[in-house]
Amino acid sequence: ARITLRQLLDHAADNGYAVPAFNISNMEQGMAVMRAAADCDAPVILQASRGARAYAGDRVLARLIDGFAETYPDIPVCMHLDHGNNLATCVTAIQHGFTSVMMDGSLEADGKTPANYAYNAGITRQVVDMAHAAGVSVEGELGVLGSLETGMGDQEDGHGATEKLSEDQLLTDPAEAERFVADTGVDALAVAMGTSHGAYKFTRKPDGSVLAMNVIEAIHARLPNTHLVMHGSSSVPEDLQEIINSYGGDIRPTWGVPVEEIQRGIKSGVRKVNIDTDNRLAMTAAVRKALTNDPSEFDPRKYLKPAMELMAQVCRDRFEAFGTAGHA
Ligand code: G3H
Ligand code: 13P
Ligand code: NA
Ligand code: ZN
Repeated sequence: ARITLRQLLDHAADNGYAVPAFNISNMEQGMAVMRAAADCDAPVILQASRGARAYAGDRVLARLIDGFAETYPDIPVCMHLDHGNNLATCVTAIQHGFTSVMMDGSLEADGKTPANYAYNAGITRQVVDMAHAAGVSVEGELGVLGSLETGMGDQEDGHGATEKLSEDQLLTDPAEAERFVADTGVDALAVAMGTSHGAYKFTRKPDGSVLAMNVIEAIHARLPNTHLVMHGSSSVPEDLQEIINSYGGDIRPTWGVPVEEIQRGIKSGVRKVNIDTDNRLAMTAAVRKALTNDPSEFDPRKYLKPAMELMAQVCRDRFEAFGTAGHA
């Protein structure tokens, strides 16, 4: 059954767990999430970026979600727009059946320029008014994702701030967060504390100097009833890097967000945890391995099936680690 982000995260808060939000852009990724959810008896957040919507098309995406929800009638499904950048993107997502939208006003509509407070609060308020009238939830974002090591935004996957960012921009200010939630009425708030999108987040296992989980704790102290969202929360598992590299890939040594740090966040109000990269790595690892092991094979099902299976394993691991399992 369909569920809004607000309904899902209220239940998560009442029961002290978080829900991983997995990005999908095709059938295989969606099936991997749904199979893992059924195995774990977990509710799901399927999210599509603007890039995913352009890739699959809104009509196909909408019908995929219908198919998933009908196939797994006992799994609550929240369909969420990831990183909407203007009112129109959010409106068209709702027209296509999304039950939740993110208005990311931390950057201007170009997706690169850090926005000022008035712009962010103003556009987010507009989206909240529109979405709530339609019974749809809204996630906002305050603070710009990027690396505290380099001061750079998300260079790797081609979106995010491209200028060097100050620590003030990279870490959400707790007092401003309190004001933002009051000004906008968002259902969930994404915060910045040193994570960035993509595989290349940290050059070594992160400590408190580059991954500022204390910022989340400070925000939670001021906003104990606000559902917090962690973006850029892939763990970038070493074993997946190794499979890719041993079958002809080229992933430079890199670190993601350790699962234990996310679990620390869940103790401080984190209820939605965004994960895309880990699943991309899993599928790529399995496809590389399958194609290398049987170079004569050319039926896509023969390499996409193991890809789905490895991605589903990543999803099951996260459902277990975040406490989502058993809450469908
Ligand atoms: O926000 C980041 C997600 O990983 C989506 O990435 O824009 O390449 O689809 P994308
Ligand atoms: P990762 O790149 O760490 O998987 O983050 C995904 C994300 O935040 C999507 O919004
Ligand atoms: Na999002
Ligand atoms: Zn994100």
